[in-house]
Amino acid sequence: MAATAQAQPNIALVKYWGKRDTRLNLPVTGSLSVTLDALWTRTRVELDASLRHDELRLNGAEDPATLARASACLDLLRQRAGTAQRARIDTHNNFPTAAGLASSASGFAALVVAADAALGLALDRQTLSMLARQGSGSAARSLFGGFVSMAAGQRDDGADAVAQPLLDAAAWPLAVVVAVTTDRRKQVGSGAGMERSRRTSPFYPAWVDGAAADLAAAQHAVRARDFAALAELSEHNCLKMHAVMQSSRPPLLYWDGATVDCMQRIRALREDAGEPVFFTVDAGAQVKAVCTPDAAPRVAAALAELPGVEQVLSSRLGEGARRLDDSEAP
Ligand code: PMV
Repeated sequence: MAATAQAQPNIALVKYWGKRDTRLNLPVTGSLSVTLDALWTRTRVELDASLRHDELRLNGAEDPATLARASACLDLLRQRAGTAQRARIDTHNNFPTAAGLASSASGFAALVVAADAALGLALDRQTLSMLARQGSGSAARSLFGGFVSMAAGQRDDGADAVAQPLLDAAAWPLAVVVAVTTDRRKQVGSGAGMERSRRTSPFYPAWVDGAAADLAAAQHAVRARDFAALAELSEHNCLKMHAVMQSSRPPLLYWDGATVDCMQRIRALREDAGEPVFFTVDAGAQVKAVCTPDAAPRVAAALAELPGVEQVLSSRLGEGARRLDDSEAP
């Protein structure tokens, strides 16, 4: 059996940075994200009884590191289906894979939806979200579209550490403009970075303590469609996460000069020109500007002219991961 699925990356406005269990990828705090529309991963999973090992191609090329993580995630679904059959995985991203654009979120979300269909499991969304989380914490959120909340959960088995939809994309249409800055490959991945922060940053306990209040305030702002409140809260939460990263030992400094220039430009656009826009930055140098759709072309133009910004991508908010017709296979 074979099946194809598509998922889009999501961008966190209230961040996940820290695990309470590294094996199950259980987050220590909840988070809140928006799922994008224009960027996607498409993945085809084909079970083949003649294969002795899983095979994976990412944008047409073999990728051993991604294969190992994908295989471990597939094992979780194979266990549920009671089969050991190996699979051929063909996956494509229509955006730069290693550029800090959350390709692991869309990748694992697409993988679990395709594998669920190929194995004939028909698991519910919450279970798929839980399985995607074990591949990459943020992937749990890409099962859903629009605005999405992710619970930290309390159970040791992680059954309650799942995402759920908060507000549809159509209910509050926003846009995300991504400024891709000079590409230095991420030196420390998010998993290792989170552990380093937990062990060494003096700010980590304060970060964890403040998370529930930030999440509740952001959920309230989203439900009320209160852009100014969401802007203030998201920038605060983002800079707080980076303060934790930067105060880790050795420090995690993901920014480059263009990152800071983009953040300053976005603040000036909002404060001086009255544009409805705010920034957020993840474990990389790219800056994501969240704005209203009518402001998006002006925000994109303002960021594109900054030195060090190599490319600007624009997206609306989109749907959660879904199965595609096999004719749309990558
Ligand atoms: O899901 P991971 O392991 O790639 O970690 C995501 C970490 C951040 O992107 C920095 C924050 C988030 O909530 O997405």
